[in-house]
Amino acid sequence: MNQLGATKWIDESRQGTALQPEEPSATSSRKCYIESYGCQMNFNDSEIVAAILKEQGYGLTTDVAQADLVLINTCAIREKAEQTVRKRLQEFKSLKQNKADMLVGVLGCMAERLRHRLLEEEKLVDLVVGPDAYRSLPALIAEAESGQKAVNVLLSREETYADISPVRLNSNGVTAFVSIMRGCNNMCTFCVVPFTRGRERSRSPQSILRECEELFEQGYREVTLLGQNVDSYYWIDPQTQQATTFAQLLEMVAQINPWLRVRFSTSHPKDITDEVLYTMARYPNICKYIHLPVQSGSTRILQLMNRTYTREGYLKKVERIREILPDCGLSTDIIAGFCTETEADHQETLSLMDICEYDMAYMFMYSERPGTLAARRYTDDVPLEVKKRRLQEIVEKERTLALKNMQKEVGKVRTVLIEGPSKRSDQDFCGRTDQNKMVVFPKKHYRKGQYVNVRITGCTAATLLGEVVEETIPEMVA
Ligand code: 5AD
Ligand code: SF4
Repeated sequence: MNQLGATKWIDESRQGTALQPEEPSATSSRKCYIESYGCQMNFNDSEIVAAILKEQGYGLTTDVAQADLVLINTCAIREKAEQTVRKRLQEFKSLKQNKADMLVGVLGCMAERLRHRLLEEEKLVDLVVGPDAYRSLPALIAEAESGQKAVNVLLSREETYADISPVRLNSNGVTAFVSIMRGCNNMCTFCVVPFTRGRERSRSPQSILRECEELFEQGYREVTLLGQNVDSYYWIDPQTQQATTFAQLLEMVAQINPWLRVRFSTSHPKDITDEVLYTMARYPNICKYIHLPVQSGSTRILQLMNRTYTREGYLKKVERIREILPDCGLSTDIIAGFCTETEADHQETLSLMDICEYDMAYMFMYSERPGTLAARRYTDDVPLEVKKRRLQEIVEKERTLALKNMQKEVGKVRTVLIEGPSKRSDQDFCGRTDQNKMVVFPKKHYRKGQYVNVRITGCTAATLLGEVVEETIPEMVA
């Protein structure tokens, strides 16, 4: 799977990461280990869980053997993610044999569907908690401690965890994710999210602004506003009845400070408005980068997926983005081998990729998910071998396009926010351009959290290489 240093929806390198607190909590008597899978929203949920547990006196550990409470925050989007989680649960079960009072819990998107199997049949876990029930964790832990099987998988129409300040985990101290809404109402036929995460609901702008302001004060210089479909963000003030749209929210966050970069993910092609694009154009600190999942280049397949746009409609949106934001990075999600997909449909996906010249894409083979409309109505009839081959062709196309886009950067000067040391060398820093491309350059006397102007001197398919040019931008003090 290709991942070119961008804001990641599903970051393969982070799957199964044991979450680490910024400051070790040596004083806590009870320790919790949290492992996370899936999308960025799920990782952000783990930070909310950590905040709830911190209130209860739990510290975090990255060593599962040290833990009194082991939590696995799961993803159900594709079958592979589920299999990985089951394997991990087996491993935890054997660990538990030597440590009888250790509790094991399943959180997140797998909770609802697999609760009976995990709790009763396979006896793999002590507690099962769905994505809207994290506030009940302390009570459920107490129940589990008293030997009962503790379950809460109820979905909510209101829960946004608005008042909970997430404990930032595995953080670089510069970039952070902020959830602005939960759930999804779109009902794409392949997708399990509307079932596992429930109805769409938006978080109040006040609580979002407060969180972003606090992050800025703590030294963070970039926030990514997260939602399954950020364009349908909509908040009505219960007192004044005044509505806030996503474009307005984006503007409010951008106004916190010109030195706070703002990103967002994910946009839906049917919902992204010109107003959002114009707002992006007006504020230099709103990063010029849009993740716009297309899923397929064939109108027939898009209809079967219930994406509610056509190939032409999608291309018009992309044209509009290019018109209003000529220097905008663009990425997408693509599914290979959806039900009934023909060779001609697949070719349409490849040709659409050429037209859109994506900088990055997340590419998947279609994986039938129980309960979805596609599972109930259509036959998963594209043979695995064909899916694999088509995915491979999509991946190759994406590599070529991404490399071409990287090569176009060579010679340009880009403003980069320094995120920290490069993975490959401690002599180098890394950070991203406005368009979300990772740049590596010699450290010299620069500092993390600082903006610098970098001349791009070379590239690989994943990374730009550069040198800071003289006119560095002074770090702003809040
Ligand atoms: N099979 C394959 N890919 C899927 N996605 C969602 N559901 C499925 C599925 N059943 C992909 C979509 C979506 C991304 C988050 O995951 O491309 O945009
Ligand atoms: Fe799933 Fe579609 Fe909602 Fe994305 S927009 S979470 S693909 S239902």
